[in-house]
Amino acid sequence: MEILKTARSLRAWRAAQTGSLGFVPTMGALHEGHLSLVRASRGRDDRTVVSIYVNPTQFAPGEDLDAYPRTLDRDGDALRAEGVHALFLPDDGVMYPEGFATHVAVTGLTEGLCGASRPAHFRGVTTVVAKLFNLVRPDRAYFGQKDAQQAAVIRRMTRDLDLGVEVVVCPIVREADGLAMSSRNAYLSPEERQSATCLFEALEVARRLLEAGERSAAVLRDAMARTVVERGGPAVRLDYAEVVDPNTLAPRAAVEGEVLAALAVFFGPTRLIDNALMCPPS
Ligand code: PAJ
Repeated sequence: MEILKTARSLRAWRAAQTGSLGFVPTMGALHEGHLSLVRASRGRDDRTVVSIYVNPTQFAPGEDLDAYPRTLDRDGDALRAEGVHALFLPDDGVMYPEGFATHVAVTGLTEGLCGASRPAHFRGVTTVVAKLFNLVRPDRAYFGQKDAQQAAVIRRMTRDLDLGVEVVVCPIVREADGLAMSSRNAYLSPEERQSATCLFEALEVARRLLEAGERSAAVLRDAMARTVVERGGPAVRLDYAEVVDPNTLAPRAAVEGEVLAALAVFFGPTRLIDNALMCPPS
């Protein structure tokens, strides 16, 4: 596996590749969720490149940029074992050189859900992903449904700006008890880890209501919110519980066809998200 740290070395490597190139952008602290994206690319593309870069512009002041887990040696071993061809490890000087003044922002889609409590977050994500796409020039890029809003925003950006990259969105990988894998799960105390299953449980409550004939999004939202509080215990704080259109992310009043149920919950300072696509039974 080639380790590439500069734009120049990446370009030189890229120029020497033949066949299709798949790209998996990450912030490291890799787990099975990340590796599922790597495997999707390895199964489909001739070459796979992964990037690890903890992107400062998608963290607000006071968020966990400094505390974000960094496990580079282990990540490198895991990627090598998956047969990844190249690992791009840019630093801040490569990504945001002195005088950097350009941003890519998607409007609309970024305003609700996570955008409501993290207003500058998606601008940081789209800026860094646009730049990574330009550096790597992949044929396909792989993202997780775990970050459903991020996937929708990147798909929109890629179409709007004709970036020429096929965006592939892969299913959420979960722990045995339903908790969605996340690098941030490492922040949880043992008690918080136990109560963190309340996100998945809330999504399951919504799914069961839908299967039982409920069609009011407000009823599903309230049931999810109640489940988070009841199962999560007194230490959890709900950020949002929403039922939205999977493509526009606009809130739905009634459930007709597929909807995205989405949640964000604080455990102390740690904020976890989860979501599920669900349909009324036909
Ligand atoms: P990061 O949180 O490291 O996630 C990298 C990719 O892994 C994202 O596409 C995310 O949706 C996916 N992923 C994370 N947990 C997953 C899970 N449990 N199942 C399936 N996929 C999962 O998302 C980012 O980094 C950054 O915002 C980035 C796109 C790299 C831009 O900085």
